Amino acid sequence: MTRVAGREVLDCRGLPTVQVEVELEGPIVGTADVPSGRSTGSHEAAELRDGGERFGGFGVLDAVGHVNGDLADALVGRPLPSQRQLDATLVELDGTPDKSRLGANAILGISLAAARAAAQVAGAPLYAHLSSNAHVLPVPLVNLINGGRHASNDLDFQEFIVIPVGADSILEALQISTEVNLALGEILLDRYGKVALNTGDEGGFAPPIGDPVEALGLLHEAVDRAGHSGRFRYGLDCAATHYYDSDTGEYELAGGRRTTEGMIELYQELIRDFAVVTIEDPLDEDDFEGFARLTEASGIQIVGDDLFTTNPERLREGIDRGAANSLLWKVNQIGTLSEALDAAELALRAGYTVVVSERSGETEDPIISDLSVALGAGQIKTGAPVRGERTAKYNRLIKIAEELGRTAVYPGDVFKVPART
Ligand code: PGA
Ligand code: ZN
Repeated sequence: MTRVAGREVLDCRGLPTVQVEVELEGPIVGTADVPSGRSTGSHEAAELRDGGERFGGFGVLDAVGHVNGDLADALVGRPLPSQRQLDATLVELDGTPDKSRLGANAILGISLAAARAAAQVAGAPLYAHLSSNAHVLPVPLVNLINGGRHASNDLDFQEFIVIPVGADSILEALQISTEVNLALGEILLDRYGKVALNTGDEGGFAPPIGDPVEALGLLHEAVDRAGHSGRFRYGLDCAATHYYDSDTGEYELAGGRRTTEGMIELYQELIRDFAVVTIEDPLDEDDFEGFARLTEASGIQIVGDDLFTTNPERLREGIDRGAANSLLWKVNQIGTLSEALDAAELALRAGYTVVVSERSGETEDPIISDLSVALGAGQIKTGAPVRGERTAKYNRLIKIAEELGRTAVYPGDVFKVPART
């Protein structure tokens, strides 16, 4: 490596984040941006923020300083090692279990930028460099109504999702999802007035409602109005940790309180009434037992995000206890590409599905699109099909589909079956 350099740039919320360049002789330059969550799980790797006055405390100059200091000192002047060796070195240099010394944001920036540089050396796009058999485009889990910490409305569930299983390609999936989004905008304007067209952090509408049943009803109406009945399934990210009261063991939902059993009953109703086929974080992030009960009772895809935090150790506990049957896969939750790939591999071996995911605080970097195709995960969650930081991912998928040509597969209604890679 001839140069490893970090800089502070802005994410889609206008908050600072880390961008890293890894340069090799040639010169070859791999660049990556680090995303950031807002409804984070408490078991995630530690993102380093400066605190103080600058950027309201959100500055990342300390993390950038570690990239340009300790980390660059250890890496520059040596040949680029394998991804696995590099990531092990980064973990060792940090020396803490949660990457809190140098910052998971500093470490991940180098890990991903190095992966891009290695792909360039190999002369391959990143997805093909990581998997020579990569050919499956993911079905998008398109988040059209935002709530929870991502919106200023009264919806407690964070994401109300449409899944275009009836499309034949990623481009058609985006076309029909966008048509539904346009129809949804018309319905919201008619019913609640202009205020309902405000949007949340992931670009979905944030209407002034508080009832999750009403939100799911709106998605169904929008699908009908767009003329695409039967071509969509539905999903939720409940991000339930954020309204769980650990003192009482109850959830504060839609103005009332529900026990774990009460939540499970509600989910069973939504599954029955609305063709909901996937639910993420339905219960508190440490309630492995409740997750196991719902997984067994519901028979649908139950996804662990805050529950697993892309951490192989937490995932192993989940597998042992039958908690959830799907891993939400966010590389910045664990902090290196290799550890994230380990978590995905463990999930797939245990018969869990993998949903590749963005963060609410994204940048224009579309790396997760390549990673989703490399994994053959069959599912990606990257917000509404609007705004540059979300469309960057969708547009990258369109480009990848074009590169793959006839060999590209869009899995449609078998999106829960991961490909062999
Ligand atoms: P976050 O939200 O990036 O704010 O954590 C995304 C999610 O919960 O899936
Ligand atoms: Zn989530």
